[in-house]
Amino acid sequence: MGDPARDSETDRPSAGKAPATDSEPTEAKVAEPRKPVTEDAPNIEEQDPPLEATDSEDVYDDDDDMEDTDEYSAASVTVRSSIWEHEFEGGRRVRMAYHHYRHGRYPLPNDDEEQEREYMKHVLHLEQTGGKLFNAPIAPNPQKILDLCTGTGLWPVAIAKMFPSAEIVGLDLSPIQPFMVPPNVRFLVDDVEDEWMDRGGYDFINLRHSCMYLQDMDKLINNCYSHLKEGGWLEITDYCTFIRCDDGTMPPGHPVAQVARMMHQCLLNYGMNGYTINELEQKYKNAGFKNIQCRVIKTPIGPWPRDPKQREVGILFRDIIHELIRALAAKPLKTLDWSETEMEVFLAGARRALWDKKVHCYTNFISWWAQK
Ligand SMILES: C[S@@+](CC[C@H](N)C(=O)[O-])C[C@H]1O[C@@H](n2cnc3c(N)ncnc32)[C@H](O)[C@@H]1O
Repeated sequence: MGDPARDSETDRPSAGKAPATDSEPTEAKVAEPRKPVTEDAPNIEEQDPPLEATDSEDVYDDDDDMEDTDEYSAASVTVRSSIWEHEFEGGRRVRMAYHHYRHGRYPLPNDDEEQEREYMKHVLHLEQTGGKLFNAPIAPNPQKILDLCTGTGLWPVAIAKMFPSAEIVGLDLSPIQPFMVPPNVRFLVDDVEDEWMDRGGYDFINLRHSCMYLQDMDKLINNCYSHLKEGGWLEITDYCTFIRCDDGTMPPGHPVAQVARMMHQCLLNYGMNGYTINELEQKYKNAGFKNIQCRVIKTPIGPWPRDPKQREVGILFRDIIHELIRALAAKPLKTLDWSETEMEVFLAGARRALWDKKVHCYTNFISWWAQK
């Protein structure tokens, strides 16, 4: 499908520098970009018609005043109180993990604000899917479920209640999961991009909101394939970082779209990719998966849709992106060659632009599921 947002992506932001550059990363630990940033929208077939916008600019929004307002792998470790360490960058806690376990690997903070934002994303997922936490038609009595990059463990805890007979393991670099969880859930600290040393035999493997932060999705999908039992399912879900607009209301150089492109550039600098979620079909095929299916859900940013439910979704998503911009400012955006003042001024403008109800922008929430 054609993308009207494409032409509006060519202007430079008002702070005076192109957001997407091929310049060297400034941090020693940051990897070389894998490929140059593209101006083109990632290619994905959208299944829904354009969302209808309300005629009135005077839509209800209660937030109008905006902001200023062990068996697993050799490297697995279980979570003990003595291993918690804190490290701060840009005023945000970026690490709370086992000694220097894979320090710097994850580009966002993992502090309370970020965990709150993860909770908002979980609620948004439920809102968008009518409460469905996965699409794969898994067998009725799964025994082993794996949640990769589990974060605060919201997904496995919700799933544990649905499948009390299943053993559910959540893996993450950071021990930020709660202690009080259903008895069939356990969490391990591990890097999902390491070799997988466990016995496998999973009925279902899930990866939500995280594939853009991983460096080798081909390897990860191959690992998932070999660790699923015959007939087991893999599901990967994420937002695409590309901002779209179907009705021409997003002006050229719109700061929100620019921040999204800057995020994509930063991720490339870390050897990651904000558009990966669009590209999973071929990776699934290469790994040997069958019954590959995809669902693309348009997610509005702001209270511009006519439909009241979509309006609520838009308000929540706008607030999530507002907090994401703060999180990006704490670390990843520092890998771009901007002065601190330039960046601050530009990001303040971008956060304000989120409140512009005349701009009907959205991004895609994409799920891919497939069977071994
Ligand atoms: C956006 S959060 C995930 C949220 C969670 N999946 C959910 O749906 O609520 C991304 C998580 O991925 C974890 N992560 C990033 N890279 C990882 C890796 N290589 N191995 C394990 N965890 C990783 C981060 O520590 C972070 O908690």
